[in-house]
Amino acid sequence: MEASLGLETKIQNHSRNVDDFLSGYFRAANGVHAKGLSAMRYSLLQKAAKRFRANLACFTIEALGQPLEKVLAFAAAVECVHTYSLIHDDLPCMDDDDFRRGEATNHKVYGEATALLAGDALITESFSMLAGQYATKPEIGLKLVAMLSKASGMHGMISGQLRDLESGTLPLQKIEDLKLMHEQKTGALILVSIEGAALVGDASAAQIKDLLHFGRNLGLAFQVKDDLLDFQEDKGTSYTSFMGVEETQKLLQNLTEQCLMNLSGWDKKAESLREMARYNLAREN
Ligand code: IPE
Ligand code: IPE
Ligand code: MG
Repeated sequence: MEASLGLETKIQNHSRNVDDFLSGYFRAANGVHAKGLSAMRYSLLQKAAKRFRANLACFTIEALGQPLEKVLAFAAAVECVHTYSLIHDDLPCMDDDDFRRGEATNHKVYGEATALLAGDALITESFSMLAGQYATKPEIGLKLVAMLSKASGMHGMISGQLRDLESGTLPLQKIEDLKLMHEQKTGALILVSIEGAALVGDASAAQIKDLLHFGRNLGLAFQVKDDLLDFQEDKGTSYTSFMGVEETQKLLQNLTEQCLMNLSGWDKKAESLREMARYNLAREN
């Protein structure tokens, strides 16, 4: 039954599971500040969130033939980090955006300071969530915390965001610098969604190797696609500004083919994961 469902339906099902988990986790409790909680839930549970990273974790565990329940808390923790990054990215001191996912940005609704703190709480809770949810498997929980913090901190997303900011005044000169910026800013969190699921799903060394290649290519492909979608907005440092739309389109095609190659030796349990590369190629938001 499950195998016959289309990708969109599977994505919807996984996303609903993740949303239910997050909604249950971020709920009113003694001492939890009501407006702060409301600000967290506002961004965390927005309907238009694609849950791309959470779905990658779910499809990775499926490809490994393991139960989804094992990865749900990790998938949710990644979405918490992703959501915090968006709230902070939209702040006036960063991109100063008024809209996200078709709705007012967090700071436009709750004010700048509350938005900042809601983002802070989402990061810290993501690690608390991992520690609590994997408490019966502490060696797994500890590795997940290490992986996610590395991907989102100074070795990953934050350095990518800093490179992006800097590129506003010091334009990037080389395509390699643009690639590094994208790999850190966006690629690292996408890669870790797959890497964490591989750990939870007991992947073999050979499987991990394939999954890491796939995750790296897809992480970059995701941002390349984003640059194509944002082309009209002229957002500064992007693949389209470096090499033009046509070449960027070719690069995306090429990265997508590499993704498919990386998992070509995997059986049909990996089909949805492979399809995520095609989904990225075709997505319109
Ligand atoms: C947007 O990410 C920001 C980038 C890292 C490019 P998504 O496109 O995954 O955002 P949502 O969660 O679906 O809104
Ligand atoms: C989003 O980056 C935030 C992170 C990648 C951490 P961008 O500024 O490039 O993307 P949008 O346009 O705000 O979604
Ligand atoms: Mg932005």
